Amino acid sequence: MNFLPLKHIITVRQFLRRELAERVFDLADRFRSAETRKRLPSLLKRKLMASVFYEPSTRTRFSFEAAMLRLGGEVISTESAAHFSSAIKGESLEDTIRVIGGYADVIVLRHYEKGAAAKAAGVSPVPVINAGDGSGEHPTQALLDLYTIKKEFGRIDDFTITMTGDLRYGRTVHSLIQLLSLCKKVKVVLVSPKELKLPQEYKTFLNARGLPFSETERLDDVLPHVDVLYVTRIQKERFASPRLFEKVKDAFVIDKKVAAKLSKKAIIMHPFPRVNEISPEVDQDPRARYFQQARNGLYVRMALLKLLLA
Ligand code: NCD
Repeated sequence: MNFLPLKHIITVRQFLRRELAERVFDLADRFRSAETRKRLPSLLKRKLMASVFYEPSTRTRFSFEAAMLRLGGEVISTESAAHFSSAIKGESLEDTIRVIGGYADVIVLRHYEKGAAAKAAGVSPVPVINAGDGSGEHPTQALLDLYTIKKEFGRIDDFTITMTGDLRYGRTVHSLIQLLSLCKKVKVVLVSPKELKLPQEYKTFLNARGLPFSETERLDDVLPHVDVLYVTRIQKERFASPRLFEKVKDAFVIDKKVAAKLSKKAIIMHPFPRVNEISPEVDQDPRARYFQQARNGLYVRMALLKLLLA
């Protein structure tokens, strides 16, 4: 099947199911096995990626940069654009992007404003990849999350996923939940304090796509029935009220006792960074998959860079 060329990666809504299976995940698999054999091809030689990050990041920036470098490409980078780029002098995001687009072949952008990546794509002469736009989306994280589910279960259909934590501000949740609408026979259970429920715009989308979901504040009831427990951090930096943050910050903590209620075949995922929501004692649990999940990000990002650039 022929797909339209990928221009930018802004939202998971732009992906088709077959495109995921045949292009992104297949390619990620190929890079994964090539890397294991130390045989990665230099497909992106003489291509330059600019990573422009206005918000903190560890995995997203390093995995994109590692992906680019390992495929023979080059990287220019600002990890603290809000403080060290001309933004501090009052330059608009649009001007910054137009200029960087004249130097680099692809721009990976993380920004604190929802909609920033779309705005950047509107003026950029080169592809823009949304590496997180405020409380909006984080599409490449969702792709690596679904890729991880596929690796673990051998399919992207027929499973139950429980998402817990900050469903209101968590952009990884917003992207993953929309991406799941491409899967068949998936049931979603949303577990959060009532102050951090999934925003209506995503529920409307799920309803329109026919993806069944339910909401609860009680994690214990759902644990025995889930295949994937997707835990997220409460997004402290997005709260207007510190009092509200204090109230909800330790709403759900996955420790050994909680994990014991999960079925044997379940897996525990987390986009990271984690704070208190998964106790380190759970890391030894064979169902904990978050470190592997982070590693999978490397292969998925290699695939995306190749699709945009080569
Ligand atoms: C997340 C993010 O920045 O949205 N991290 C990530 O990129 N894997 C999640 C978070 O900050 O809690």
